[in-house]
Amino acid sequence: MNNPDPSSLIQFENVSKKYGSFYALRDVSFEIKEGEIVGFLGPNGAGKTTAMRILSGFFPPTSGHVFIRGVDMFKHPHEAKQAIGYLPETVSLYPDMKVIEYLRFVAKLKGVPAYELQGHIRSRMSFCGLQDSGHRLIGRLSKGYRQRVGLAQALVADPPVLVLDEPTTGLDPSQIKEIRELIRALGQNRAVILSTHILPEVSMLCDRVIMINQGQILASGTVPELASCLKDREAIHIRILDNQDRNLALKLLGSIPEVEALKAEEEVSGETFISFETSPELDLRPRIMKLFVEQGISLAEIQRQQLTLEDIFLGLLKTGKLGGRFS
Ligand SMILES: Nc1ncnc2c1ncn2[C@@H]1O[C@H](COP(=O)(O)OP(=O)(O)OP(=O)(O)O)[C@@H](O)[C@H]1O
Ligand SMILES: [Mg+2]
Repeated sequence: MNNPDPSSLIQFENVSKKYGSFYALRDVSFEIKEGEIVGFLGPNGAGKTTAMRILSGFFPPTSGHVFIRGVDMFKHPHEAKQAIGYLPETVSLYPDMKVIEYLRFVAKLKGVPAYELQGHIRSRMSFCGLQDSGHRLIGRLSKGYRQRVGLAQALVADPPVLVLDEPTTGLDPSQIKEIRELIRALGQNRAVILSTHILPEVSMLCDRVIMINQGQILASGTVPELASCLKDREAIHIRILDNQDRNLALKLLGSIPEVEALKAEEEVSGETFISFETSPELDLRPRIMKLFVEQGISLAEIQRQQLTLEDIFLGLLKTGKLGGRFS
């Protein structure tokens, strides 16, 4: 398909990627516009890095198209890549170079004119909190500082598109906070896509989420859209004192049509924990208590709890779908 939309900074169209006969990505499509920070959320092996590498022009897809600012990445790679700053999953920096030397090297590669070089690098370094680290050897930097250098090199030449593969992995909580703040500031006039397997990262940072598993998109939407889906769901947690009642309890609950995603969660010191999902409009608790009392089940506790984005994500990972509430 050849239908580039210049208002989209990133267009990923029907992209598939095979390694041998294995599909790491299968028919993945999405668009990202200026001013958006989009989270690419998925567990290990979901295909995030593969998608980021295709997006950055590191390798081509098996089929499908990528347009950056309307430019076809694989027909005009030079032009398309100029618009992209890429923070790879493993930042392979040159350990024997000083930070400032490395950034100078990248800036020259990216065509920053000589007369702008010094000011350009200084401002990227200061933005990433590296103003006092210019003369340190990259090989001696901590993980957090190396990540800052990775981010600073992605920002050289002011790309309108930023592709960040797990930007906060391996950082301590205060470094994570700082990097998130940097990304938030960067997202204001760019298109940013970042991959992560951490759900809170997406809730804190991203305008929109694309959930991916086994190379396919499970769901996508803005964080408020996903959150609004949560309003019509709740979880019920049940604690039973005697493990011998477990199967009967599951059978009784399974016979209630409004009970969904029923599962026995764990057994701890003779007790069984069961949970399921349902609509908050129906308070099923009195019905369940009555049933359990009639059948002599040793019910100790029954609690309602609002679902979290985490529940939605885990549910999607397991079943691929949650009642069709996502597009
Ligand atoms: N070069 C390769 N050759 C063969 N298989 C590969 C290659 N690179 C990745 N894969 C496989 O493709 C799938 C997707 O890998 P990818 O690295 O894109 O996942 P990811 O979502 O980035 O995972 P993680 O969270 O662990 O970084 C995995 O099953 C992986 O083993
Ligand atoms: Mg990865």
